[in-house]
Amino acid sequence: MLAPIPDGLSFEDGASLAVAGLTAGGLARVWPVEDRAAVVWGAAGAVGRMLVAFLADRGAHVIGIASGRRVEAVRAAGAAHVIDRASEDVPAAVRARTAGRGAAVVFDPIGVESFETSLKLLAPRGCLINYGELSGPVPAINLHQLFPDSVFVTKYNGMHWVEGLQEFAGLISAALTLAAKRRAVISEIAGRFPFDRVADAYRALEAGAAGKVLVLSR
Ligand SMILES: NC(=O)c1ccc[n+]([C@@H]2O[C@H](COP(=O)([O-])OP(=O)(O)OC[C@H]3O[C@@H](n4cnc5c(N)ncnc54)[C@H](OP(=O)(O)O)[C@@H]3O)[C@@H](O)[C@H]2O)c1
Repeated sequence: MLAPIPDGLSFEDGASLAVAGLTAGGLARVWPVEDRAAVVWGAAGAVGRMLVAFLADRGAHVIGIASGRRVEAVRAAGAAHVIDRASEDVPAAVRARTAGRGAAVVFDPIGVESFETSLKLLAPRGCLINYGELSGPVPAINLHQLFPDSVFVTKYNGMHWVEGLQEFAGLISAALTLAAKRRAVISEIAGRFPFDRVADAYRALEAGAAGKVLVLSR
């Protein structure tokens, strides 16, 4: 379960990226990405930044989606292109950056709000990987929707892509190594709370903290 923290990173850095690194490392295994276009929604989020870095490291042509000033964090994490969902038409922008073809894979933690759009971003035989429902549950799938481009859809469950505790240290170490080279993959810290104020930490999460909330043991 132990992963060494490389020089240049702190315990807070390690705590901030461990779960995101584990999730991103598992997600990056699902679909072949080398030399292919991969779209990452929520790319400025904790999982999103790590995923951008893992995919870019594997030779994917990464197109990240974020909003406003957060697009800079996505570029710094290693995306080839960043789309600002607040000011751009996402399907048109993805088509423009894939020579009209669409992406081989779309990683989507948003859920109901993005589901239909995500399907439109895929190239023929591409795969939509939903791994979260930040905007609400994904709709039921009508298989006929998948017919025109013969695309795949899956709902990622980390329990089946990370084979138990024995894999934790290796995946988290890989994330730490990426972070040591590229600090931008570590998401901001939105708050620090001592252990005896853990309830306040949960309140901060529920209020929509923009970044990681750390509980410090001392
Ligand atoms: N399946 C699994 O095994 C597993 C494991 C761990 C985490 N997760 C899931 O992974 C997801 C992401 O976690 P995280 O820690 O990375 O969250 P986060 O740091 O809060 O980032 C989420 C990002 O999504 C974007 N976003 C939020 N609402 C949106 C909307 N309606 N439309 C488009 N973009 C929106 C936001 O960025 P912009 O505003 O910049 O676009 C935000 O940066 C969560 O749903 C979590 O439950 C799943």
